[in-house]
Amino acid sequence: METILQHIDKHQFEREELGKAAMILREGGLVAFPTETVYGLGADGLQEEAAKKIYAAKGRPSDNPLILHIASTEALKDIAVEVPESAYQLAEKFWPGPLTMVLKKSEKVPYGTTGGLETVAVRMPDHEIALALIEMSGAYIAAPSANTSGRPSPTTAKHVMDDLDGKIDMVVDGGQVGIGIESTIIDLTSDVPTILRPGYVTKSMLEEVVGEVALDAAILKENKDKNLKPKAPGMKYRHYAPKGDLTIFEGEMGHVVARINELSKEQEAQGRRVGIIATEETKHQYEHGIVKTVGKRSQETTVAHGLYGVLRDFDDLAVDVIYAESFEEHELGQAIMNRLLKAAGYHVEHVE
Ligand code: TXA
Ligand code: MG
Repeated sequence: METILQHIDKHQFEREELGKAAMILREGGLVAFPTETVYGLGADGLQEEAAKKIYAAKGRPSDNPLILHIASTEALKDIAVEVPESAYQLAEKFWPGPLTMVLKKSEKVPYGTTGGLETVAVRMPDHEIALALIEMSGAYIAAPSANTSGRPSPTTAKHVMDDLDGKIDMVVDGGQVGIGIESTIIDLTSDVPTILRPGYVTKSMLEEVVGEVALDAAILKENKDKNLKPKAPGMKYRHYAPKGDLTIFEGEMGHVVARINELSKEQEAQGRRVGIIATEETKHQYEHGIVKTVGKRSQETTVAHGLYGVLRDFDDLAVDVIYAESFEEHELGQAIMNRLLKAAGYHVEHVE
């Protein structure tokens, strides 16, 4: 099929410009659209056949449930049951925004959307185009990240086209996304609200609103126990493995840079192409390899913003090995390291 690419200025657009996209969604088609986190691949989440098309286009395992995107908190009454008070408190504080809540699903929500689960993941995106599209289509838009399964989530419409051109009906290009990594997922069906995927909304931010919050044990780095199954089905997949062999280096920055310099020199001497994931603070200190800056270490939002683009760049450049600096695993750094560690298959070297 031919994929329509439509540019829309998110700062200044008329709702009618989204008419075609809304119509495609109503008719059961697939439209990729921007959100504040990453681009989503949308279908009407209450039309089971439409939601199924998402799995085919992405090559996504069918047990991996989709997130329903809504434009008003009222929608919770329609798609979820036994909604706890904490959900409304979190919605009040963080919606629209990068927080996804897992709730008990209502009968309306088809199993084709929830991967067979009795629960549904819901989020209200903080993006004018996404919100307008949900309202105009009259749909709750089921949308995973708009990448081919196993590739980094797309932060630009070009990334979406690179993966899905010819496989979906339309891509709405609203420019580069703001945050750059996927939403935080919190499960509100357990006794203690539990983070299933770290993101921009951190544990401490959530605790300010609902008190104690747990972290799904299966997503912690130190937990290599293969029997621990993550509660978010998607978190069990290797998600994304770069074509180059990725190693993360942790330790004092000066030592990390020295170690990466030493190894890149060796690798280049053996004829291998080396990619280095650096930061603004360190980029000038590397002597070998292709150096890409993810962002400023002192401002982690810039690192979240740049990470997936750099990983995609290194795939395009066909590097053989990638060396990455590491980040402190607290606050937003926890989400950044979660994505980086998964990409590296948890391959970390501690530098003394
Ligand atoms: O920021 C985001 O969340 C983006 C944008 C497009 O909204 N979406 C996104 O979707 O990252 P996706 O499909 O790539 O990731 C959804 C994650 C998966 O790990 C999935 O297993 C989990 O959410 N999930 C969805 N429904 C769930 C449920 N009912 N229970 C537990 N985990 C669920
Ligand atoms: Mg995804």
